[in-house]
Amino acid sequence: MTFRAQHLLGIETLSPADITEILDLADQYVTLNRSDRKHSETLAGLTQINMFFENSTRTQASFEIAGKRLGADVMNMAMQASSIKKGETLIDTALTLNAMHPDLLVVRHPHSGAVNLLAEKVNCAVLNAGDGKHEHPTQALLDALTIRRAKGRLHRLNVAICGDIAHSRVARSNILLLGKMENRVRLVGPPTLMPSEIDHFGVEVFEDMREGLQDVDVVMMLRLQRERMDGGFIPSEREYYHRYGLDAEKLSHAKPDAIVMHPGPMNRGVEIDGTLADDINRSVIQEQVEMGVAVRMACMELLANARKAQPKGVMV
Ligand code: NCD
Repeated sequence: MTFRAQHLLGIETLSPADITEILDLADQYVTLNRSDRKHSETLAGLTQINMFFENSTRTQASFEIAGKRLGADVMNMAMQASSIKKGETLIDTALTLNAMHPDLLVVRHPHSGAVNLLAEKVNCAVLNAGDGKHEHPTQALLDALTIRRAKGRLHRLNVAICGDIAHSRVARSNILLLGKMENRVRLVGPPTLMPSEIDHFGVEVFEDMREGLQDVDVVMMLRLQRERMDGGFIPSEREYYHRYGLDAEKLSHAKPDAIVMHPGPMNRGVEIDGTLADDINRSVIQEQVEMGVAVRMACMELLANARKAQPKGVMV
């Protein structure tokens, strides 16, 4: 066992060995999750609190199911949008919860960096479930597991990440993870939806979908993150779909066995054709959801073990 991290705040701090260790353990949980009795005692006696300051369907449900299957006591805090006001509010809430001795805090927050800040204030393991435009590590890990199982490997693949890259924490975490595992990443989308710091990413950038998808193994589509846009980034949804919406014709430029991915929530007819999204021969979107539970179980087990191995009072 090599995994020593005290928190899971992003892909940035994980080594390729950490990533492989998480995915290998998650593979075992896929088997457990497909069996009749989906229960283990790995986290028995531990308390997991989910704090979602932003809307979430699958990520919150996934973390809740993951904790319950591992035997933890899981609590979902009801964080209304109206309670998001100032940095102080977040830290105060965290300190209050910390006094109740949780072991795992799962946090989603609209501000980039908020989860890192929170991790400095509490003495339990913190898992980032998405912070602003920054990182969403468990999403990148579940995407990696999905790719590894579909393609039989997680290296030397050509992966196209398409759409609203600028506002996407999913894209950031995936770029980091796929790069660490020695894959070639292409970003495809209109220049208005490309991040300004793109030169640091070590990726190829394409404005044209057909060129960008040429011979890729994996096509990852992203939603337009309207809640993070503060102006006119795209002409109209119709025009956007015409140029960047993934349909069978555009996909025909990728390798014949290329897989189609989407983290959800999907906007059918905007970034992806509904029929293609449901095509079980090409789309692995439901597998991504399945892998999500297994990956989160693996991450929580490894963090709990790393905490146990750490001498009391030492915080990293
Ligand atoms: C993503 C997120 O919240 O960052 N969704 C998810 O976690 N499944 C992507 C999105 O909201 O578009």
